[in-house]
Amino acid sequence: MAEFNTLDDFDFRGMSVLLRVDINCPLNRTTLEIEDDNRIQQIMPTIKELVHKGAKIAVLAHQGRPGDWDFIPLDKHARIIGHLLGKEVPYVDDIFGPTAVQAIRSMAAGDVIVLKNVRELPYEQDKKTMEEHAKTELVLSLAPQFDIYVNDAFGASHRSQASLVGFPGVMPSAAGRLLEKELKALKTVFEDPARPCVFILGGAKFGDSVKVVDRVITKKVADWVIIVGVTGNAFLKARGVKLGSPSEDLISKEMTPEDLDAAKALLLDKGEKILLPFDVAIEIDCRRRDILVGDLPQEYPVLDIGKGSIEKFEKVIARAGTVFMSGPAGMIEKEPFAYGTKELMEAMTHSKAFTVIGGGHTGSAAEKYHLFHKFSYVSTGGGALETYLLGKPLPVVEALKAAHNRKCPPRTG
Ligand code: 3PG
Ligand code: MG
Repeated sequence: MAEFNTLDDFDFRGMSVLLRVDINCPLNRTTLEIEDDNRIQQIMPTIKELVHKGAKIAVLAHQGRPGDWDFIPLDKHARIIGHLLGKEVPYVDDIFGPTAVQAIRSMAAGDVIVLKNVRELPYEQDKKTMEEHAKTELVLSLAPQFDIYVNDAFGASHRSQASLVGFPGVMPSAAGRLLEKELKALKTVFEDPARPCVFILGGAKFGDSVKVVDRVITKKVADWVIIVGVTGNAFLKARGVKLGSPSEDLISKEMTPEDLDAAKALLLDKGEKILLPFDVAIEIDCRRRDILVGDLPQEYPVLDIGKGSIEKFEKVIARAGTVFMSGPAGMIEKEPFAYGTKELMEAMTHSKAFTVIGGGHTGSAAEKYHLFHKFSYVSTGGGALETYLLGKPLPVVEALKAAHNRKCPPRTG
């Protein structure tokens, strides 16, 4: 039995739909223009399907956080949605006031509008339960204006925020196509992966990596875990490798002594499943130099995995049935040091494996190397993916499940 409703479970003809999406995009710091619109592109199948089915759609979303430089209105996002849809998509500078209500009520079948950045509401980001959020002015005002709430915000599914979990408590609700697709791809990797299953974990945020590595090995999801990037350096340090002070200082910022002890214990306990680089790249006199980890000079930061390690990892990837990659292998902003990430991604796309990438800038990197469409799946999740990897519940999914389990959804208004 399905765990939550999807777009297949409702007749959308003439229905007004409140569609919560995650179109929180990376912006250019100077121009504040959207630099990567992938998250917008990925919600278009849901919007197009709802338009095609004759719904009236109001998009609700956020961009940035109040006080941050990338906290901007959603007019630019509305323009891109309109462009991708091939029709005008008005931006309404209001969330639930008279202007918004007027715009919602004036929609005809197939119309799409974009409401104001929902994080303008001071309580939107309060970490509360779905029952508590169901009582907010946002939910009490907007729920009566709509027939169905659709949540397609996988990227924000780890947040228990008002616009994300409050509505399923009070009205008929469904998951959008992107949310469905993301969960399906992750299920394919986590529940019954084609073997061998290889995880490549990288990036600069060490955070909960030790827990993720431990979990995927203990639960017998991963046959091999390749650890690269700053996270890989942290594991090398745990193994006793002297990386030099620039890299060790960076690791100390992200990693507590307890994390280091946990990494050491994990290497002792499950080290036979963990593959670390045996050579790395540093920059000397503006040139990339690949050096064995035992021979590293101590004054240069480690910027990428080395060519020998790349070859070794490529062989593991070539034989895999499933490969999941999250986070780059090196400093991808600096051309010669994007090499490791690019090579590992290429190896994934050349293999016959089911391949999934995601997290932080991984998708943008794939786009830059023209590999984006060669993966089986590219996730739009950053924090949401990390939460999933840790085996923690995603509040958005839990709220949709709770709504589905209620036989007769109550209505407000
Ligand atoms: C994200 O990009 O991580 C999501 O849009 C959620 O945004 P947040 O991290 O600011 O809560
Ligand atoms: Mg985030």
